[in-house]
Amino acid sequence: MNAKQLLTTASLLSASIAIAGEGVTTHHLGNANAMVRIDGAGKYLILPVQESMPDSKIDILVNGKVAQTLYVRLADNQVDYTVPLDVSPYTAQGKVLLNVIAEGDRAHSRNASEYICWDQMVLADTFDIANREKYRPAYHHTPLYGWMNDPNGMVYKDGKWHLYYQHNPYGSKWQNMTWGHSVSDDLVHWRHCGNAIEPTGLGTVFSGSGIVDKNNTAGFGEDAVIAIFTSAGVSQVQSLAYSNDNGCTFTFYDGNPIIPNQKEARDPNMFWHEPSQQWVLVLAEALEHQMLIFTSPNLKDWTPVSSFGKGYGCQEGVWECPDLFELPIAGTDESRWVLLCNINPGGPYGGSATQYFIGDFDGTTFTCETAPSVTRWMDYGKDNYATVSWSNAPDGRRTAIGWMSNWEYANDVPTQQYRSANTLPRELGLMRGDDGEIYLTSIPSPEVETLRESTAHYRGKREMPLPELCEIEIVYSLKNDPLELVLKNEAGENVVITLDAANQKFVMDRTKSGLTDFNHHFPAVTTAPIQKANTKGSLRLFIDRCSIEAFDGEGDFAMTNLVFPTMPYSQLEIASGSKGANVKVHTLNPSSI
Ligand code: FRU
Repeated sequence: MNAKQLLTTASLLSASIAIAGEGVTTHHLGNANAMVRIDGAGKYLILPVQESMPDSKIDILVNGKVAQTLYVRLADNQVDYTVPLDVSPYTAQGKVLLNVIAEGDRAHSRNASEYICWDQMVLADTFDIANREKYRPAYHHTPLYGWMNDPNGMVYKDGKWHLYYQHNPYGSKWQNMTWGHSVSDDLVHWRHCGNAIEPTGLGTVFSGSGIVDKNNTAGFGEDAVIAIFTSAGVSQVQSLAYSNDNGCTFTFYDGNPIIPNQKEARDPNMFWHEPSQQWVLVLAEALEHQMLIFTSPNLKDWTPVSSFGKGYGCQEGVWECPDLFELPIAGTDESRWVLLCNINPGGPYGGSATQYFIGDFDGTTFTCETAPSVTRWMDYGKDNYATVSWSNAPDGRRTAIGWMSNWEYANDVPTQQYRSANTLPRELGLMRGDDGEIYLTSIPSPEVETLRESTAHYRGKREMPLPELCEIEIVYSLKNDPLELVLKNEAGENVVITLDAANQKFVMDRTKSGLTDFNHHFPAVTTAPIQKANTKGSLRLFIDRCSIEAFDGEGDFAMTNLVFPTMPYSQLEIASGSKGANVKVHTLNPSSI
């Protein structure tokens, strides 16, 4: 990062006052229409945003032709933050004119010519990326700025973990879906790479998956990274884009759409099925509550072969973001296929959640062995959604990551410069529960342990100090009493966590966790069933400014919940079961590596 990139909003704003209108000429037409001509130099046009405003529609005209359309909540009487619109590809081609239509609720808006955004729309070569958010996580992936939802198209290639994500580059609420891109060597440190796939005439870029085409089956080159995603326009159709530069930039295939389905269907997930030597693609038919399965020799021509879902599991809301893969069952030489099915709403505690099905897959058909009436959740918190896994992960790993939020309140959480983080990366496995059924297990990816900077060890203690960024690891041996933990801060806020081994349940109460009133769906008490009755075991809790993730040591349960304490939790109290608890508090520090 160079010094220029660290320009603060304040300096940008003072620059705007000094050069208001310089290089940018605004003509006000009707009371809801303005045309902004770009005459000056500068890579970015800085757009002032006010979140409570409705979207304005901006058509970017280059030499008179519409090159891009975007929607921005242009500021009327207050600037919450600014977003950069990279105009350099357009100014390089010719004359650039923005046709701005202040859409939305007329009652809300004054005559658009009175908006303060016009004076503060300036050209600049850099934009503000300095973090101003107290709740921005330190060791979870977040976008540099703007809104994020689902993880997309994840591929592992040449030692690098690529993570694409649903991104709004022009605001911190859902809009303008684009694939953002970040890369990591270790799943805990991420480098932002800018936008990888942008909206086209077929629509914005919704969720999808990625693969490395090792054998050039699609003809776009050996080792090309291929992404298949939903183009969401008037209809939802499936499109392909390919990359010959290791997933940095993508070319939109000229034969798109490759699957012009009629009903609302989205979030294609594809993989190579070795036994049948073909590509398989699973597509969520959202409102029909079923997954459509297609096969292909070349990633471009797809044949529908089967469907799964009608009558199975939770049938509420919409079905979205599927993932299908095979996993070994721990301690056996058996394996099963797992179908992840993200649903919203209908989660166990409201809103979004990831359900899964266990069964077999023969190359065309998924046969479910979980009874239709049974619903299994991958994570029993409120904030693990759109979970999907990396393609091509090394050493047979099945590494997954989720969006750490919930559609019930994701647009309202108390941050502004960016919104939403991913969960910690997780290793998935299978285990047999006490009832003989097969369950999906999740444990944090081993790379997460590299974040440990120092460790404090406590035995039989009731009160322990907590650093702001930490992992609490507890090995317990309980009698009948549950293990009851309280995370507390000096503002009197707390989160109560109870592991009740005798009754086989794990509970987290965030009703008094800090800021909770930004949305009435937020306060919650969440409960996970424990599949293996055991009074001895281990528990891991991860705290990262605005999140708590809890994992059974063997992956029996996982629970992810956001929290917004007004001060960091600084104390751990063991209110019950402390005698049998051996506690390690690891201080985590992502910059110590
Ligand atoms: C899931 C989802 C997907 C869709 C994307 C749009 O959170 O609704 O079904 O592709 O988000 O951003």
